[in-house]
Amino acid sequence: MAFNLLKGKKGIIFGALDENSIAWKTAESIHAEGGSFVLTNAPIAMRMGQIDELAKKTGSEIIPADATSVEDLDNLVAKSMEILGGKIDFVLHAIGMSVNVRKGRAYTDEKYDFTTKGWDVSALSFHKTMQSLYKADAMNEWGSIVALTYIAAQRTFPDYNDMADNKAYLESVARSFGYFFGKEKKVRVNTISQSPTPTTAGQGVKGFSNFISYADKMSPLGNATAQDCADYTVTLFSDLTRKVTMQNLFHDGGFSNTGVSQEVVEKFTE
Ligand code: NAI
Repeated sequence: MAFNLLKGKKGIIFGALDENSIAWKTAESIHAEGGSFVLTNAPIAMRMGQIDELAKKTGSEIIPADATSVEDLDNLVAKSMEILGGKIDFVLHAIGMSVNVRKGRAYTDEKYDFTTKGWDVSALSFHKTMQSLYKADAMNEWGSIVALTYIAAQRTFPDYNDMADNKAYLESVARSFGYFFGKEKKVRVNTISQSPTPTTAGQGVKGFSNFISYADKMSPLGNATAQDCADYTVTLFSDLTRKVTMQNLFHDGGFSNTGVSQEVVEKFTE
């Protein structure tokens, strides 16, 4: 269903790897709502992913950028403004990766080089992205910036490993930068705390398939899908949410406020 909510709006979308990616679904929804954008991902992901197909489908250009490189980000911001013909209205940061998780290191056995790399990719990259945008004065007034996060930032989910710490940092950056972006440029910055979702990054977490069913049974509305997340993000990029900023917005079918559900209790009833 399209309402033209993003007609004339221009943006940058990070993190579309394949059709399961939350960023992929979001790009399709933004396109359907009349928005235009540049797609970006790490150069290595371009070779593995199917981003060309998404670009073709949505009439977008692709600019490779490693989100940990300030030089790449500065170049991305400058080129995006050239391609889109002016300042930017929305940015989606949908990037995450833990090297400790990938290499099977437990939270109590972190290799700190891995920790630092994962933090840079998953958390500091959000600050770097916003700083590039801010310094280039690249955002239009009443623009909107969104990053994706997970409830492990507030509550412990043991297998989420060091990504929990990365997400806590990411959410803090959204608040801190949100203050300056709001005051000086009237731009809002929020994080969406999304249900577990079957994507490449999601499935990297140990025990993911059992966990996703547990979350689904715990949530009165069931898990929010990648498409649901795309729809929610569209609202945050639209002019209907202009005074929402510096928030961590739970988008999880009610999971975050549920103590226990009947279905979960029944599993333990003898
Ligand atoms: P995905 O695997 O499709 O997307 C992750 C993206 O990060 C990929 O496109 C990857 O190429 C990109 N990336 C990794 N290193 C990068 C770098 N150095 N520079 C630029 N891009 C880089 O997975 P998904 O799930 O769509 O992830 C998007 C966001 O949603 C992430 O922040 C993730 O933590 C978050 N999220 C995911 C949940 C899930 O269960 N899948 C739940 C809650 C939040």
